[in-house]
Amino acid sequence: MRKKIVAGNWKMNTLLKDGMELAKAVEKLEKEKRSDALVIIAPPYTHLSRVNDLIDSVKLSAQNCASEESGAYTGEVSPDMLVSAGVEYVIIGHSERRSYYGEDNELLNKKTKLALSKGLKPIFCCGEVLEEREGGALFDVIREQLNVGLADLTKEDISRVVIAYEPVWAIGTGVVATPDQAQEMHKFIRDLLVDLFDKKVAENMTILYGGSCKPSNASELFANPDVDGGLIGGAALKAEDFLAIVNSY
Ligand code: 13P
Repeated sequence: MRKKIVAGNWKMNTLLKDGMELAKAVEKLEKEKRSDALVIIAPPYTHLSRVNDLIDSVKLSAQNCASEESGAYTGEVSPDMLVSAGVEYVIIGHSERRSYYGEDNELLNKKTKLALSKGLKPIFCCGEVLEEREGGALFDVIREQLNVGLADLTKEDISRVVIAYEPVWAIGTGVVATPDQAQEMHKFIRDLLVDLFDKKVAENMTILYGGSCKPSNASELFANPDVDGGLIGGAALKAEDFLAIVNSY
């Protein structure tokens, strides 16, 4: 049985004090959850170490990491630093990193391999923009993102990766993918994993959906056989909403 996960990506939101309150509230509600989904939160870098002291059942993720191990890279945060702050997961290749910071598939592959070598579990994001979907290139785009982004990973490596499918047109727009659109792409990704690795890897892979997922639409998305949870943005900033999504299972 593959793991169900609901992860909250806080993006560049909350000051330290509010972030600590939110983490405490998520931890408290997680204890009462009615679902077996693993709950992960990804606060900003500045909050990680403090938040780590406040959570136990809830797991900690960073939103990004450096592609280099250490040294003269001003402003970067290395995987080792994240591990030393208690971080277990790291989001890699979010569409905002791809589009605003020019992170390409090769760089994301480098980050993924480095993060894995340091013991982190990557939440590797992929997703197409609206023009790519409308122009019919959506499957080629996702294939390329995963072919290159997950290149050279061993089967042991890939067993520690979570994939998040986040159609860019659904992120922060209020336009959610239909359950059929989500299922179609998640199935495509799982089939691709059979080609890239093998059937066992594909069957065990947790594939999350992200993009305008809310308490009101989570259960119909999660009801799909290949949707194993969600990567939540806006709705993860309120503990009640976030846990309502977790309880949608
Ligand atoms: P929203 O849930 O705000 O659309 O964001 C999704 C996302 O980007 C999560 O990483």
